This record gives sequence, structure tokens and C-alpha cells, in this order.
Amino acid sequence: MIFVTGGAGFIGSNFVLDWIETVGEAVVNFDKLTYAGNLNNLAGLKQDARHRFVQGDICDTAQVAQLLADHKPRAIVHFAAESHVDRSISGPGAFVTTNVNGTFSLLEAARAYWSGLPEAERAEFRFLHVSTDEVYGTLGPDDAPFTETTAYAPNSPYSASKAASDHLVRAYHHTYGFPTLTTNCSNNYGPFHFPEKLIPLIITNARAGKPLPVYGDGQQIRDWLYVGDHCAAIRRVLADGKPGETYNIGGWNEMANLDVVHILCDILDDLDPKSANGGSGSYREQITFVKDRPGHDRRYAIDARKVQRELGWKPAETFESGIRKTVQWYLDHQEWVANVQSGDYLKWVEQNYDQRDMAGETT
Ligand code: NAD
Ligand code: DAU
Repeated sequence: MIFVTGGAGFIGSNFVLDWIETVGEAVVNFDKLTYAGNLNNLAGLKQDARHRFVQGDICDTAQVAQLLADHKPRAIVHFAAESHVDRSISGPGAFVTTNVNGTFSLLEAARAYWSGLPEAERAEFRFLHVSTDEVYGTLGPDDAPFTETTAYAPNSPYSASKAASDHLVRAYHHTYGFPTLTTNCSNNYGPFHFPEKLIPLIITNARAGKPLPVYGDGQQIRDWLYVGDHCAAIRRVLADGKPGETYNIGGWNEMANLDVVHILCDILDDLDPKSANGGSGSYREQITFVKDRPGHDRRYAIDARKVQRELGWKPAETFESGIRKTVQWYLDHQEWVANVQSGDYLKWVEQNYDQRDMAGETT
């Protein structure tokens, strides 16, 4: 079996569902259930004996050590993290606690477990650390995309905490020979994406008749990857990645935020026009430019040739197909949306957007 951390969050829950469907191997899913963790994401596995959920904190080395001893996983896939850049700006402490100290605690428990394995199992064991392209910092318009050898230059407390965790993982391989794999991925989108992040926020705000907040001039560029493609990449790296190596994962799909928001509005105009709900006009009319994110990275771009060349992975989904099915998923799962938009979520929205002058310019 495999041990997954953070498997109740956005990417982790997609990964666990995908893993059980495609690989069929048992999973112990260890998650603290912060605001971002949601057991409803895993409802499809309620009756499935291959999935065991355990609530806990990666900072708790003793609990992790006990679970590893009890379940004897052949691999750990580490998703658990604080993941939202805006929250890292207003409250960086939790990011250092979970992303840095938590990854360190997990590495300690995992290394002790791995050291005690019989030789053959030790050789097969893998620790896959899921990281981000944000560790590389920001690019100018004509810069080449990030490769695995691009120097780290994290700009937000979030990316700095992920960079620190990447360095610990690297050091554990270099110093102890611990069999690590690291993936640095670009922006994911798809089902179960928490509506604090751009794409699900725009979809849910649009349908609720609320402003669609675009930070600054909306010309910041991200590379977008459908979450199912990310899960497939992680499976490939786990199966055949070389211990100690890092792999950049991306969608070859750079887009400016404002273009993404326009596309979302146009798909909603098509799939769920305002006129069908007693309104009129396009969702584009709700776009509102608001105060920029402090230290906002201008452009990310991923060179994903290494993982394609060495492991044969490339994205299967185009942005056009992936984004349309994502919008449809949100339209079909309004109960899921209503459940996550709870008291804590509303507090965050108030805190993040009230200070951004939501009465700003609209298009
Ligand atoms: P998420 O915020 O949706 O989920 C994080 C999960 O981790 C939640 O279920 C939460 O309860 C759990 N968690 C948080 N702190 C924990 C702790 N101390 N102990 C145990 N569990 C804890 O995040 P996500 O978007 O699914 O991202 C997953 C991972 O992928 C993160 O490491 C993130 O840095 C990385 N990543 C995300 C993206 C993206 O676009 N979302 C892209 C590249 C990399
Ligand atoms: O690049 C990978 C990273 O992508 C992951 O490591 C992070 O965990 C993940 O959250 C994501 O970070 P971003 O900051 O790029 O994602 P977010 O959805 O928060 O924002 C995407 C872009 O949209 C970014 O340029 C900021 C902008 N934005 C975001 C929000 C929430 C807006 O213009 N308005 C908004 O309301």
C-alpha cells in the first residue's frame, strides 16, 4: 500500500480517487482536515476497503511513525501543505509550521521507518514530495521557461516555505541516501478545487452574481494543467523516477489571468446563460479590477521536457477540453460548492477582498 498526506485536499483527493481507480492499490490517507481538507471529496470511496482515512498532523512525528509501522507502505506521496499564496501573505506562520516543520517531521518519521526495512523493501521504497513551480520565482516576458536546474528564487511566504521543504527533501537524499523524488508543478485546475483559488472563485462568484476580482492589470501569466494530468504525472514519477531527481510538470499552456477569466465567462454564458436564470447580459460584465497581490509574480512557465523524455509523460488534456469539463463539474456539484462556502470561507473572502477595493473598475 501507499501512504498519502493531504489526500483530502484538491490535488490529493483527485490523486487518491485516480490511484484507486487506475492502480487499485490500497491507500492510507493522512490529513489534518484544515479548512482546505474535505472528506466529501472522497465520498465515492466510502465503501471501498482500499481507502483508509486517518485524521492527523504531519508535524506529529510519533503518530506518523506509528502509522508507518502499522501499515508498512512501499511509498509515501506527500501533498499536505498550506497552499494559498494570499493566505501566506496575511498569515505566514502556518506555512512555516506545516510546509517546513511538517515536512521535516514527516521526513524524520519516514527515514526512521525506511532505515528499519529489510534490504529488498528498502531498495524499492520511495518518498515523493509534491512541490510547485513557484519556488523558481518570476519570469520576464521573454525568459525561457523554468527547467529543473533553474535557481530557486521564491517570492512569497508560500513559495519560500515550499522551497525550504524541497531543500530538506534534497538534503535527505544527498546525506542519508533516502530515496526521494520531487515534482515541481504549475497551476492545477479541475474538480474539488477550493473556491479561494482563481478558477473556482470566478466560476462560483459568477453564478452568485458577485464581482469577479482580477488582481492588478490581469496580465500575470500562469501555466495551467488539468489536475488529472498532474495525477498521471505523479504516478509515472513514482513508478520510474530516479531517486534524488526532480521533475518539472506543466501543461505547456501559458495564459494571462484576464484571458482565463474571459474564457470562464464565455463558457458560463454558453452552459448556464444569465438569461436562463432571469438575468441578462454576459458574465464578463461582473469582472472587477482590484488591488494587486503584494509581490505578485508576473509570469510562470514550465519546461516539462525532462519528464516527457525520461518517463514518457505529457498532458492528455488541452485547456479547452479541461476547462469546459471543469465548469460543467461546478455546475453539476452545487451542493459541494454550498458545503465548502461555510462560515470560515466567508470570513476569508471578507478579509481578502474588502481591503482590495471591490468597488473598483469593472469591464
Ligand atoms: P489544498 O490546500 O487543496 O490541500 C492541502 C491538504 O493538506 C488539505 O486537505 C489539508 O487539510 C491538508 N493539510 C494541511 N496541513 C496539514 C498538516 N499539517 N498535516 C496533515 N495534513 C495537512 O492544496 P492542493 O492545491 O491540493 O495542493 C497539494 C500540494 O500540491 C501542495 O503541497 C501544494 O504546494 C502542491 N501544488 C499545488 C498546486 C496547485 O495548483 N494547487 C500546484 C503545484 C503544487
Ligand atoms: O503555480 C503553482 C501554484 O498555483 C501552487 O503552488 C499554489 O498552491 C496554487 O494556489 C497556485 O498559486 P497561484 O497564486 O498562481 O494561484 P491562485 O489561483 O491563487 O491565483 C492565480 C492567479 O490569479 C494569480 O496570478 C493571482 C490571480 N488572482 C487570484 C485570485 C484568488 C486574481 O487575479 N484574483 C483572485 O481573486
